[in-house]
Amino acid sequence: MSLLELEQVESFYGASQALFGVSLDVKEGEVVALMGRNGMGKTTTIRTIFGLVRARSGSIRFLGQEIAGQRAHRIARLGLGLVPEGRRCFPNLTVAENLAVAARAGTWTQGRVFDLFPRLSERRDQYASTLSGGEQQMLAIGRALTTNPRLLVLDEATEGLAPVIRRDIWEALGKLKAAGQSILVVDKTLSELLPVADRCFVLEKGATVFAGPPAGLTPDLQDRYLGV
Ligand SMILES: Nc1ncnc2c1ncn2[C@@H]1O[C@H](COP(=O)(O)OP(=O)(O)O)[C@@H](O)[C@H]1O
Ligand SMILES: [Mg+2]
Repeated sequence: MSLLELEQVESFYGASQALFGVSLDVKEGEVVALMGRNGMGKTTTIRTIFGLVRARSGSIRFLGQEIAGQRAHRIARLGLGLVPEGRRCFPNLTVAENLAVAARAGTWTQGRVFDLFPRLSERRDQYASTLSGGEQQMLAIGRALTTNPRLLVLDEATEGLAPVIRRDIWEALGKLKAAGQSILVVDKTLSELLPVADRCFVLEKGATVFAGPPAGLTPDLQDRYLGV
């Protein structure tokens, strides 16, 4: 069953059109990669899904229900968890408080987040502002998990992090996948992203130009759509 389905979504920043026809879908239990070079519309697509940018046309369905045009807090409450670009934690709250603010009933408790990210457990009473970038990223993921989302969405969660921390994060995502968590993930490191992805969508200039399994992304296509 399709958890999330976008069809020909278009959206704008003021008068400037950013999305020209984004179509993608995520099925229950899948890890889906959303790819494309800088500025192609990945973050805008995510912001549009979450109601932070309004879709001007096209449709966005979550669990079969049209969500385009709904308010952001209502969309989140339907079961969408966001780990935003730039990992925004509340700097003046502790790790434990950050995990508590958005928490909703479900199997993802604070304790389970600490099992997934032991580094956070050791820092549970520290202010988020004192954490390293990698720890803040883990906290942002943990915070999204404690909302017990049907779909977890990550926007560049490993950007700018040291290799050893990236490995921890990919390992955690692998565990989430194994536990059946549905995930939509944006990341630039193909060597880390492709092995965990069930399917990929590639954006170019705000439109979907490729949809298919990772194996379908031939070196040619990678070069055309993702090369630098
Ligand atoms: N807040 C904004 N206001 C105006 N234009 C924006 C804004 N954010 C992004 N854009 C433009 O929208 C396009 C898509 O950007 P974005 O979705 O951030 O791309 P990506 O996440 O793939 O790097 C780019 O042309 C970018 O310059
Ligand atoms: Mg982006």
